[in-house]
Amino acid sequence: MNFQDIFRQYEDELKMVERELLNIFQSEASLIPTIGAYIVNSGGKRLRPLFLLLSADLVGYRGYKRVILAAVIEALHTASLLHDDVVDEAELRRGKASANKIWGNQVTVLLGDYLYAKALHISVQQESLPIMEALSQATSQMAEGEILQLMKAGDPSITFDEYLKIITGKTAGLIRTACRVAGILGKLSQEKLQALTEFGNNIGIAFQMVDDILDYIADEAELGKKLGKDLMEGKITLPLIELIKKAQEKEEIISIIKYDNLSEKNLSKILNYLRQYNCIDSSMKIVKQYIDKAKKALQVFPDSEARERLFYIADYITLRSN
Ligand code: IPE
Ligand code: IPE
Ligand code: MG
Ligand code: MG
Repeated sequence: MNFQDIFRQYEDELKMVERELLNIFQSEASLIPTIGAYIVNSGGKRLRPLFLLLSADLVGYRGYKRVILAAVIEALHTASLLHDDVVDEAELRRGKASANKIWGNQVTVLLGDYLYAKALHISVQQESLPIMEALSQATSQMAEGEILQLMKAGDPSITFDEYLKIITGKTAGLIRTACRVAGILGKLSQEKLQALTEFGNNIGIAFQMVDDILDYIADEAELGKKLGKDLMEGKITLPLIELIKKAQEKEEIISIIKYDNLSEKNLSKILNYLRQYNCIDSSMKIVKQYIDKAKKALQVFPDSEARERLFYIADYITLRSN
């Protein structure tokens, strides 16, 4: 079994998720389905829906609500990306021009609002207060994480714990919720629901850490996003936190982060220091600790094919290149 095999096993159901996702974009305001089709057809790994479906199999829930809620989660994710690309002034998403680049900030922000609201509206129709609670909480936490991040932009005194808080809010919250929603659908005991949520949370943390590592070392074409963007935006993420901790040239690095307008020259300087001080390796070690924590949380579930698949996807997080 490998990652591609797992994806193939869920291909048909993921197609249904995409159909439901396109439904969420249905509106008389024709720009909404137009941009919706552009975004949905531009790809995306569909990792959050996959986590929901895999978790639903772990808990033995096979009803159609798992498809609807996977689409709801992907819609919330899409809304967060639309807003994120406006905030980050990104031009590239999933290897194509970002929505803000094509349609401008105004429409993109409003489409994000529309998607958040519509996704939560659909989740209300599922008539489960605990599911509503999980989804609405994840939504506010995402915005909270992004705001915390803005508050810390360009501040080299950021601690690992502060960084952890940011990524837990902006990324882990939704991945945790994908798993939790499946657990609620499957009527898990409190203890097991907690364990599955814990799995998703640690996976989510590891996932964003890898994203932050890839921002320095990925192949740009494969990643589908511009490299070195975090540093340009003054975002101090795990590799840089590691570097500030280890480097003798700390003062120089801090002044680059604080005062420079981040030229290509300084980006390559930082890349050299990251290499010199092994910061990518040490960051990866931290990622693996969170993956291990995630896997440990699943030990309360009996051995099953679904659990095995979740373990595989967990390991895939450290190997991904986009
Ligand atoms: C991108 O998420 C934003 C982060 C939380 C890092 P993904 O890497 O899951 O984006 P897509 O959906 O596959 O494009
Ligand atoms: C992740 O933030 C986006 C959200 C979780 C909203 P980033 O800004 O790090 O993600 P990318 O790199 O643009 O995908
Ligand atoms: Mg961004
Ligand atoms: Mg961002």
